[in-house]
Amino acid sequence: MQKAIKRFIPTSWKPEARKLYYALFKPFVSILKRGFHFIPDKIELLTGKRSRLTPPKWMLFVGAGDFKAIGEKLLGHFIEIAGLKPGDRVLDVGCGIGRMAVPLTGYLKNGGSYEGIDIVTDGIRWCKKNITPLYPNFRFQLANVYNEAYNPKGKYKASEYRFLYKDESFDFIFLTSVFTHMLRPEIENYLSEICRVLKKGGRCLITMFLLNETSLKLIELKQSSFYFRYNFKGDRVNDKENPCDAVAYDEKYTRKLYNKNNLEILEPIYYGSWCGRKETLCYQDYIFSVKKIS
Ligand SMILES: C[S@@+](CC[C@H](N)C(=O)[O-])C[C@H]1O[C@@H](n2cnc3c(N)ncnc32)[C@H](O)[C@@H]1O
Repeated sequence: MQKAIKRFIPTSWKPEARKLYYALFKPFVSILKRGFHFIPDKIELLTGKRSRLTPPKWMLFVGAGDFKAIGEKLLGHFIEIAGLKPGDRVLDVGCGIGRMAVPLTGYLKNGGSYEGIDIVTDGIRWCKKNITPLYPNFRFQLANVYNEAYNPKGKYKASEYRFLYKDESFDFIFLTSVFTHMLRPEIENYLSEICRVLKKGGRCLITMFLLNETSLKLIELKQSSFYFRYNFKGDRVNDKENPCDAVAYDEKYTRKLYNKNNLEILEPIYYGSWCGRKETLCYQDYIFSVKKIS
């Protein structure tokens, strides 16, 4: 709907239209969304179709698809690809509204723990209210960090933000669909923070949109769900008015960045179906890495 409206706005009006949208309409969009979903959400809860650990639909902001099914599928990948164990200390950067935390509550035990950080107040509030009281080893933290798409009023720059965790605190760190919304100086800082708080030999799984020969060819053939037509300060973005909507990175640059941050990519990279690849495990590309011991 938003995308359809955007097409009718002349490019030169877009910056002003965005400001107007955030100032005047966004609060109403959220009220309308709540009104629209209110009764179906309540019915789902009362009939047992939605558990208390699934947020109501009007609160969801983490992308389309079945909240529960996607979380469970990704948990399976964490176990199979990244060797996640029940006793691991886990960090979820950009945890949203608990899509991964919820399935992990049934898996992490025997000293296993979970920390989630995000920049969206409502998401963190929901997780603190609904998950932590039942699972005290699951904690959530709000970072007051700016992101044009998710937190346009954020105070701190993601390119300078320091995670509030001690060095080498985690066995496993993951980011699902987060670097796909962040720009180059931001992912550079975050990857160095990830390396700092990850234990030596610790594992990391990050999903991205990687540009390489195959994905670029499929984009050219219009097989892809994103075209990433625009260069934005060295990155390729899908929508130049809203660059953080979807960001893609050159695979060679990404590999160098991992190397610089002492993270060894464990081959293969699991390429996703986002660009029209067939028979894939996932939608976005999965990069699984390990922090080097020396
Ligand atoms: C598509 S959602 C994915 C959320 C969650 N990882 C999931 O899979 O359900 C992208 C998330 O990245 C978060 N995000 C964007 N920039 C961030 C930043 N600089 N630091 C932490 N989280 C960020 C957003 O707030 C949003 O929750």
